[in-house]
Amino acid sequence: MTKYDVKDLNLVEKGKLRTEWAEMQMPVLRMICHEFEKAKPLKGIRISACLHVTTETANLMKALKAGGADIHLCASNPLSTQDDVAASIVIDLGIPTFAIKGEDKDTYYSHIASALSIKPHITLDDGADLVSTLHKDMRDLLSNVMGGTEETTTGVIRLRAMAESGELKYPIIAVNDAYTKYLFDNRYGTGQSTIDGIIRATNRLIAGSVFVVCGYGWCGRGVAARAKGLGARVIITEISPLKALEATMDGYEVMQILEASKIGDIFVTVTGNINVLSEKCFLLMKDGAIICNTGHFNVEIDIEMLEKLSISKRTIRDYVQEYTLSNGKRICLLAEGRLVNLAAAEGHPSAVMDMSFANQALSVEYIVKNAKMLENKVYKVPDNIDNEIARLKLNAMGVMIDSLTKEQAKYLSSWEMGT
Ligand code: ADE
Repeated sequence: MTKYDVKDLNLVEKGKLRTEWAEMQMPVLRMICHEFEKAKPLKGIRISACLHVTTETANLMKALKAGGADIHLCASNPLSTQDDVAASIVIDLGIPTFAIKGEDKDTYYSHIASALSIKPHITLDDGADLVSTLHKDMRDLLSNVMGGTEETTTGVIRLRAMAESGELKYPIIAVNDAYTKYLFDNRYGTGQSTIDGIIRATNRLIAGSVFVVCGYGWCGRGVAARAKGLGARVIITEISPLKALEATMDGYEVMQILEASKIGDIFVTVTGNINVLSEKCFLLMKDGAIICNTGHFNVEIDIEMLEKLSISKRTIRDYVQEYTLSNGKRICLLAEGRLVNLAAAEGHPSAVMDMSFANQALSVEYIVKNAKMLENKVYKVPDNIDNEIARLKLNAMGVMIDSLTKEQAKYLSSWEMGT
């Protein structure tokens, strides 16, 4: 009997069909799955995976299992699990899964412990909660681990901090930092899915709204571009002069957050930092302002302060909590300040997760083959893997490109020729 903790196994059929639907848009991962099935590069490898439990993740689990791995899976966020998919991963893939949408903090961490109970050789993480639990509370398991991967910017930042202080006890491959990950997943994936989450939760018209994006990293750029495309007046707030300059020249208004607070209709935080929307912002906001977060952790909006300033709160629609402040104004918080794209919608579309999870699968294979050469550091995905994923994706999309002529290749590798 498979061990698991999921909401309802009766949801299996819906989860299975939706996973198949996603698979159609994941040709690169499908190819890797077929290769893994033949070569079994992960035979005997135990994996603890802490990822958003979605249809795309189910397809990654299928590929790793085809490669011969034994896997335990848990959620990387309490509100991002798709319960039907969790049921299908347990029943159709036979993978012990510990994830329930809306689980409380204690359950979330007990699920991480359950995923680690497999005594992993390899960890897959999205946000670094599993790696940090392993390093803090389950250190006896560390000696088994040959390496791990990290999916997201926030996780990579935490793991680099661990490596720099000498605390990281095994090598990590930063999947996030592959070009075929962040240029597409962070930008187009977060861009589309964040707007999708806001629209599903609120059914608001974006055209004509004042849409404030806090943070102009790759994710912020994606959100801003899509909001602009839908006709919003987009304002960017930043702390980096370079990014602020880039946003200005990309055609956005850039201003300080307290100025933006007075005029915004919809606010999205995507900075990776804490208390970006704080007391002073809330007090300046217009009646009915919508606030949400699409950064990894629910720390970017000071919800505790919002609670303190409020005289009442009610759930006015699914994923919309309306707070009434003592000044009489209402502020609407989406998805409890958690990732609005995964909580109120379905996360990034499959076509973009195809590349992110191709990086995951090939990085796991790389760790198995190269574990002895790797130190306890955070590594980039090897360039040959990154380039091969781009090549395969283009191929699958039917896009042809040119190659250098002999003359051009020679020109690029010489220095003598000028004008
Ligand atoms: N992160 C963002 N979108 C995702 C998705 N669809 N599946 C897994 N992880 C994600």
